[in-house]
Amino acid sequence: MAKEKSFNDRLTAWALKRLDGIFAILRCIKPTVVIKGNAVVTRFEDVTEVLNRDWIFQVPYAEKMHKVTNGSNFFLGMENTAQYTRDVSNMRIAARREDIDEIIKPFVDRTSTEILRNTTGRMDVIQQLTRVVPTRLMGEYFGTPGWNETEFADAATIMFQYLFYPDDPEVEEKALKAAEQTRNYLDQTIAERKTNPSEKDDVLGRCLKLQQAGMPGMADIDIRNNLIGLIIGAIPTTSKCAAVTLNHLFNNPELLVQAQQAARADDDEKMIQFVQESLRLNPFAAGIQRICAEDYVVAKGTLRSTKIPKGAKVLAATQSAMMDRRKIEKPKEFRLDRPAHNYMHFGFGLHTCFGQYINLTQIPGIVKAVLKQDTLRRVSDMVVEEPFPVSLEIEFDN
Ligand code: HEM
Repeated sequence: MAKEKSFNDRLTAWALKRLDGIFAILRCIKPTVVIKGNAVVTRFEDVTEVLNRDWIFQVPYAEKMHKVTNGSNFFLGMENTAQYTRDVSNMRIAARREDIDEIIKPFVDRTSTEILRNTTGRMDVIQQLTRVVPTRLMGEYFGTPGWNETEFADAATIMFQYLFYPDDPEVEEKALKAAEQTRNYLDQTIAERKTNPSEKDDVLGRCLKLQQAGMPGMADIDIRNNLIGLIIGAIPTTSKCAAVTLNHLFNNPELLVQAQQAARADDDEKMIQFVQESLRLNPFAAGIQRICAEDYVVAKGTLRSTKIPKGAKVLAATQSAMMDRRKIEKPKEFRLDRPAHNYMHFGFGLHTCFGQYINLTQIPGIVKAVLKQDTLRRVSDMVVEEPFPVSLEIEFDN
């Protein structure tokens, strides 16, 4: 038994290192593969078809979400139900699009710049910056700074790994402890804000105002569930995306120079394109998981049509879709003029990332602050402890 597991582990590790090549072959010869109850969908058109049919390809996260929240669900774990609409709508009232320019962008720019200014010219950009800025944003904007900055970011990271990566008893044990600590912290924070109401206009404060106004779905426990989901979604993801973008630029010195010019010119639109393209070539994840709720034929009426059986675990391979030359022009080239619809970093369809606009401000903002430093250089290769990068040492003159 143990022997078989280690063979599977080695096979998985082998395949993960060669995913781009494997996906390229599949897109040509068998765009949707079904093996032993697992399906992988690789072409752009088919990935969007799967993610658009949310009533057939359903989210698989509810069971683990219940454990994290201690008995409830969070909207990423829900089907397209009335409760899903209620919870997302409530949180969209509390976390508004106009906050991006008014609160989030200035905060990210200021915080990143200050952190860089206060270092002595050498730093681990992941431990000291890319994890820190989104964690502080949780404090400033969401109203939940955590009981301790490092432990709060660690808790979000391990819960993320538990929810979205294959089962691992060790990860589960740590994640459930972290979940309990985070729930207790949130209960206490919500209770304190209610006892000592503050004038601070943040997401938690707005949730409590909605509660006072009698808005359904805004009881303390609902606010806690919504916040725990947002904390998990926001911290490790942002850190990884910013680190991976910087690492890609360090790997490509000509691009690094161009990106530094854009950063110094505060060309934010170009910074977004640098991030989007770096992530397309170094994606956050191979794809998005779904469970097939009924027999379904993908790409029906074409030569590649394939039946996915009810109950199959499906990977909608966004990494592969973003390299599909049928939709993406010269996909291997790094280009700064691709249209936004070429990218699927933040998902597609019903569950598209709640933070998608925050991401396109926060990640470029962190990256830009680093790129503005003089004589910037990478000291050593980025260290990754799957699934997250943990260290990227840089030097600069300040
Ligand atoms: C920065 C990098 C980020 C990446 C790469 C990312 C990626 C994603 C992806 C791929 C999904 C879709 C999951 C699925 O369909 O199964 C998603 C959903 C979600 N993300 Fe993000 N995310 C990021 C940041 C954030 C931030 C900053 C927040 C919170 C402010 C957030 C909150 C959420 C939530 C709540 C959902 C579920 C949306 C729904 O069910 O309607 N994410 N994210």
